Amino acid sequence: MRRKEDIEQMEPDLSIEILGLKLKNPLILASGILGISGSLLKRMAEVGAGAVTTKSTGPSSREGFKGPVVVEVEDGLLNSLGLPNPGVSEMVKELDEAKKGKVPVIFSIYGFDINEYCKAAKIASDAGVDAIELNISCPHVKEVSVEIGQDPKLVSEIVKSVKETVDKPVIVKLSPNVSDIVSIAKVVEESGADAVTAINTVKAMSIDIDIKKPVLSNRIGGLSGPAIKPIGLRCVYEIFEKVKIPIIGCGGVSRWSDVIEYMLAGASAVQIGTALVNEDTAIFEKMKKGIKKYMLDKNIGEISSIVGLAHTK
Ligand SMILES: Cc1cc2nc3c(=O)[nH]c(=O)nc-3n(C[C@H](O)[C@H](O)[C@H](O)COP(=O)(O)O)c2cc1C
Repeated sequence: MRRKEDIEQMEPDLSIEILGLKLKNPLILASGILGISGSLLKRMAEVGAGAVTTKSTGPSSREGFKGPVVVEVEDGLLNSLGLPNPGVSEMVKELDEAKKGKVPVIFSIYGFDINEYCKAAKIASDAGVDAIELNISCPHVKEVSVEIGQDPKLVSEIVKSVKETVDKPVIVKLSPNVSDIVSIAKVVEESGADAVTAINTVKAMSIDIDIKKPVLSNRIGGLSGPAIKPIGLRCVYEIFEKVKIPIIGCGGVSRWSDVIEYMLAGASAVQIGTALVNEDTAIFEKMKKGIKKYMLDKNIGEISSIVGLAHTK
């Protein structure tokens, strides 16, 4: 335990180590938010992100749904973009530029079956990404309205196959649209994943009362932003009690105190998405400032020391 006088002399240490990667701070750009081009990923690193995640890409390019694909709702955003992306072979061309930001680049992939995940993971891995995040909140090829992340057997097969295919840390981004996220997290851990991200967007909708129809062209979408923070926090807290691999918290992080809450619940790092749409990129520095002040006030030398403290009886 450091003495208060010693801590006051020193700069609070925001660095963390996760998946064998050293991050200057625990703030990670979430997938899909500004993560389309290498120069934007580099820019996020320059404005203070500890790591960045790319937009999810699959083995082939997709146009996505016709509009409206995003709508603002109370305390959040509702989106159903339909996974528009240039395909993994095009996306990896952005990697060299992204890496100039000198922070770890997490490459998010999706697929509609096991082979697609493995193919995308192999291309990303060969291109030299630092870690791979599996987005399992995409539709099941055989049962279109069911998310892959809702099928524990399929999730397990995907994780095992990707782990056999690549020699990179594999993070699985969990869907909250399941009855028991902890059991899926356990399956993911037992299948060899190195970490989980919790959570992706929460299934939701909005209706236009004038035209009497759902607002989104896909009718149902995913809710993000402050509205889902208590859900993400609950998921991280519950997963931490049963799973040993690191957890990356995600969902509604928009203030420095949200980062602290997620870390106390058990997250080793957090991802930030919608807050970057609502605010400007100064948010990373603002959060770091708030976290440092909290650490000084509470005599905390290293940010990693608070992970899971909300579980202490
Ligand atoms: C416009 C938009 C696009 C997104 N695209 C992706 C994506 O491609 N892959 C993915 O795993 N998550 C995607 N997400 C989900 C975010 O990464 C994040 O999990 C979610 O928005 C919750 O975090 P937040 O409340 O900080 O935004 C997207 C979210 C939004 C709002």
